[in-house]
Amino acid sequence: MSGEEFRDLAARVVGLAGGLYAGLDGARAYPQASGTEVRQAFDEPLPREGLRGAAFDALEDVIRLSRLPTPRFFGYVFGSGEPVAALGDLMASVLNQNVTAWRSAPAAVSIERQVVRWIAEALGCPQLQGSLCGGGSSANLMGLAMAREALLPANESGARAGTLYCSGEVHMSIAKAVALLGLGRSSLRVVPADAQGRMSLRGLEAAIARDTAAGGSGIAVIASAGTVSTGAIDPLEEIASVCRAHKLWLHVDGAYGALGSLAQPHKFRGLERADSLSVDLHKWLYQPVDCGLLLFRDAAIARRTFAHTEDYARVIGPGPEEDFAFFEESLELSRRFRALKVWLSLRYHGLEAFRSAIGADLQHAQDLAAAIRGCPELELLAPVELSAVCFRHRGTATDRDLDRFNAALLRRLIANGEVYLSNATVAGRFALRACFVNHRTAGADVAKIVPEVLRAARSVSAGRTTNQAS
Ligand SMILES: Cc1ncc(COP(=O)(O)O)c(C=O)c1O
Repeated sequence: MSGEEFRDLAARVVGLAGGLYAGLDGARAYPQASGTEVRQAFDEPLPREGLRGAAFDALEDVIRLSRLPTPRFFGYVFGSGEPVAALGDLMASVLNQNVTAWRSAPAAVSIERQVVRWIAEALGCPQLQGSLCGGGSSANLMGLAMAREALLPANESGARAGTLYCSGEVHMSIAKAVALLGLGRSSLRVVPADAQGRMSLRGLEAAIARDTAAGGSGIAVIASAGTVSTGAIDPLEEIASVCRAHKLWLHVDGAYGALGSLAQPHKFRGLERADSLSVDLHKWLYQPVDCGLLLFRDAAIARRTFAHTEDYARVIGPGPEEDFAFFEESLELSRRFRALKVWLSLRYHGLEAFRSAIGADLQHAQDLAAAIRGCPELELLAPVELSAVCFRHRGTATDRDLDRFNAALLRRLIANGEVYLSNATVAGRFALRACFVNHRTAGADVAKIVPEVLRAARSVSAGRTTNQAS
C-alpha cells in the first residue's frame, strides 16, 4: 500500500471517528438491535478477493451496532476511551513495535518505563516498578504468581499448599488466578466483610491464627482498593501491618479504585505498602482498552517468577539500559506498545486534568446517591465510597419479587437507550449499579438516571412488552 493510499483510507477512518465523537451527546447509550440482527449484519463469506476501499463501507454498521462511549454509559467498570489516547493506539499499530525488550523496541521500552514511573509516583508509590499488561485480570494473575514464588516457590517443582486471604467482595479474577496457579480455589480463605463491604481485620487475624495453628502455610492477603461491586476500600494500612507481622505478601487489587487516590489520597493510606498492586488504566484513567498495570516492589522477585529465557531471546546489549527486557519481569513476551497512548494522553492533558475528571466522577456518584435518597420509590443498597452506586427500585404492589422486578427494569432501561447501567449482587440482592469512570459525563447526564429508572419501572409494571437488550 502506498503512503498516499494509506492517507486516503486513514482520512476516511478519522472522518468517521470525528463524526462519532461529535455525535456522542445525542447518541443512544445502547444500540437498538437484537442479537440476530447484529449477527446478520456481519454474516458474509470470507472474501476470496480483496474488497479494497469497499471493505471500509461496513464500518458504519460497526458504529451503528456498537455500544458507543456516550456520556451516559455507566456500566461495569469501564473507562470512556480518551481521544488523544485513541490516536496513540493508531500510531502504536502503525509503528508495530514488539515491546519485549529494549533491543526490539528502544523508544517503546523507554516510554513504557517512564509511564510506569509516572503512574507509580501519581499514586504515591514511587518505590514501585512494573509493566503494562492486558488488564486487571492479568495484573492480578502476575501479582499472585509473584507472591507464590516469593513465599512457596513452585516454578521448579510445582505448587504446594498455601493459603491466600481475601474478602468475599474480591473480584472474580482472583479466584481464577488462584486456580490457574495450581493452588486450588480451596486455598482462598474468604474473610467476612463489614457493613461497608470492607474486609474485617478481626476476621483476617482469626483466619490466619486458625490456619497457623493447624500448621498451614500462608502466602498472601489480597486487599481490594475499590471492590468491583460497591467500591469499598479494605483497610490497607492495617492489612499491611498484619502482612508484615505474619510474613505474608500483600497484593492490592486496585484495578478499579487505585486511581481514585489521585483525587482522594486519604482514602488509600497504606497503598504504598503493597508488595504488588494492580491498576487498570482502561478504567479510571479513561484509556482505550487494553491497558492494565502491575506494580511491584521487588524486581528480583518478578524476575525469579517470570524469567525463563530461551537462547533466541537472550539479551545481548552493552549496558543495563539496553539489556532491559520486560519479558523477564512479566507473563508476556510479544507485547503491544500500550504505553504510547498513555504517554500522549498524559502529556496532552496533564495530570491535573485526570485528577479533576476523577474528582468529577466521585461527585457524580454522590449526586446520584442524593437523588436516590430523595426518591421514595428507590433505595440505596450500599454506601458510596468511590464512584459506584448500587440501588434498587422498591417494587410496586403487584411486583413483590424485587430481584425479578429490578432485573426486568434493567432490561427495559437498557432497551430504552437513554442511560446504560449494569447490575451487581449486594448482600444477596439484585442491585442496579451505576459506575462513574467516564470523563464525558456531565451533571445533566447524571440527572437523567433516576427519571429513566422510574420510567422503566412504570413500563415494566404496566406489563408492556419488553424489548430485551442482549
Ligand atoms: C476490582 C477489579 N479487579 C479486577 C478487574 C478485572 O479487570 P480487567 O477487566 O481489566 O481484566 C476488575 C474489572 O472490573 C475489577 O473491578
